Amino acid sequence: METYTSIPEDLKLAVLEKIKPTEAERKKLTAVQEELASEVKAAADKLHVPDICVKMVGSAARGTWLSGTHDIDVFISFPEETPRKDLEKKGMEIAREVAKYAEYAEDRHAEHPYLNIIYKGFDVDLVPCFRVASACQLKSAVDRTPFHNEFVKTRIEGREEDVLLMKQFMRGGGVYGSELKTQGFSGYLTELLIIYYGSFEKTVKAASSWKPGQKIDIMQHSELEHTEPLVIVDPTDPRRNVAAALSLDKFCMFIDHCREFLKSPELKFFFPSRPLPVEDKEFLEILESRKSSQLAIVFETPDVVDDVLYPQLYKMEQAAASLITEYDFSLIKTGVWSGKTETVVMLELISAALPNVKKRIGPPVWVREHAQKFKGKYEGDENVFGGYIENGKYIFEVQRKYTTAKGLLEDRLLNSSLGKQVHQSVSKGFEVLEDAEICRLKDQDFRVFLRKWV
Ligand code: UTP
Ligand code: MN
Repeated sequence: METYTSIPEDLKLAVLEKIKPTEAERKKLTAVQEELASEVKAAADKLHVPDICVKMVGSAARGTWLSGTHDIDVFISFPEETPRKDLEKKGMEIAREVAKYAEYAEDRHAEHPYLNIIYKGFDVDLVPCFRVASACQLKSAVDRTPFHNEFVKTRIEGREEDVLLMKQFMRGGGVYGSELKTQGFSGYLTELLIIYYGSFEKTVKAASSWKPGQKIDIMQHSELEHTEPLVIVDPTDPRRNVAAALSLDKFCMFIDHCREFLKSPELKFFFPSRPLPVEDKEFLEILESRKSSQLAIVFETPDVVDDVLYPQLYKMEQAAASLITEYDFSLIKTGVWSGKTETVVMLELISAALPNVKKRIGPPVWVREHAQKFKGKYEGDENVFGGYIENGKYIFEVQRKYTTAKGLLEDRLLNSSLGKQVHQSVSKGFEVLEDAEICRLKDQDFRVFLRKWV
């Protein structure tokens, strides 16, 4: 068991100085929340929908938002017996009425539609939900949220700063955010960790010896077995794992981040310096010293939200990797980057070229029928270099179909299993850049990605 010294108080203060909302910021947010609540009620009256309640949820309602982030979650809750169609229709009508006072509005869709608006500079979600009796009787995934709020609000009082520290610490480690792009820790999950362990420091110390299978069940009411690396049973719903979206790698990155931080607690774990974009010259030098092969599959970024895009990109990354290995190339690693206009799936290979000759191993000679059939197929073929027997089996050295990874991808990538929008975009055309050709991609954010890549 390792022992750690405690985290310096002045380090925590230095972090909080940067991330804790000021009194003015707090007042402004509260005022906007109150305004929104009365706008929603006024809209509901105007539209003759009397039986809704307005609920402020999320970190803004709990005093656990990071300074400078401006999101407010407003839930418009309808009686449970409201038909889904009515909830969607009336909910959106109310939201649109409120949006008349907004700078910007955009329809979004989760399990059912909601409205995202920019209101006085705040990023506001207006979400219709059902007022169910308890979170496990939910009719729609968002129905749990008000219960989360109730649970956290009373228990987090006095520990808001610990939540802020933890959120920023996770951001610094690149593991904060439960969107499908990040597959990290959500705000609610962070709050539950603080409630369970008691403080930022205690959580960091505990997490530094987590293993996959770690389970926390605050209410001792778990009803299901889970297979995810971290299981935090939702205190408001015994069947749900709050950490279901956390990937094994983000789980482990967090453990590593905690250990490194405890070894030398410094500001950089909260505010890491952003790597500099790689310049052409430096990239060429790195290529020269690594002597591996870099391939970039480039195509137009599909016009869909991140939660749709990223799962498809990760799927494509997998598909490209299996294609490459299926045809005998050896993979070092794969990665994904997506910008406004172009998207890149990166592959690093031991070598992007293979010899013409490929070894085909046949059946043992004594398995007469199969062996003779195999031999007959290759013997005398002009594409065959030669044949012999090794370890009792017929071997033929034949002409390889794809000798370059680029040719393979150009020929077969579209036949592999891709998500809908990514397939559409890749069908329109894609390019495979190799090594120095990658310098064609000038996007500075891509160049930052490239720095971490190599
Ligand atoms: P947010 O994503 O805005 O999180 O979801 P947050 O808790 O406010 O944290 P930050 O500070 O903005 O990052 C608002 C609420 O929706 C529910 C949670 O109850 C959360 O508090 N929610 C959100 C989930 O249950 N699961 C999710 O994956 C996302
Ligand atoms: Mn939020």
